[in-house]
Amino acid sequence: MVTTGRRLRDDGWPAGVNTVVVMLDGAAAFQSLEPAGLNISWGAYLGMPNQILMSGALAEIGPRIATARSEAREKHGWIMDSYILKRTS
Ligand SMILES: C[S@@+](CC[C@H](N)C(=O)[O-])C[C@H]1O[C@@H](n2cnc3c(N)ncnc32)[C@H](O)[C@@H]1O
Repeated sequence: MVTTGRRLRDDGWPAGVNTVVVMLDGAAAFQSLEPAGLNISWGAYLGMPNQILMSGALAEIGPRIATARSEAREKHGWIMDSYILKRTS
């Protein structure tokens, strides 16, 4: 399912779905989820010189992605990011 940060935050993990792609998320909505059993692949400035890619178990890397996101936004003055969440168990 392709969705928005607001939907993910407001509605939680969509029923019957193992993979969620999130766009239009200005506030790292992945932090609102129970991280157990979820993997995240996050990318900012995709296809651009400043591209940043981070992936791993949401429980471990989620906080680091949130930090990297706010630092990059501070550094460049803007950010565009998207991510894929996969339920592994
Ligand atoms: C208005 S939507 C456009 C979506 C996409 N272009 C489409 O046609 O479906 C903007 C969102 O696209 C994603 N996006 C656009 N450019 C991006 C980039 N270079 N790197 C990562 N995500 C990007 C971000 O999630 C952003 O919030």
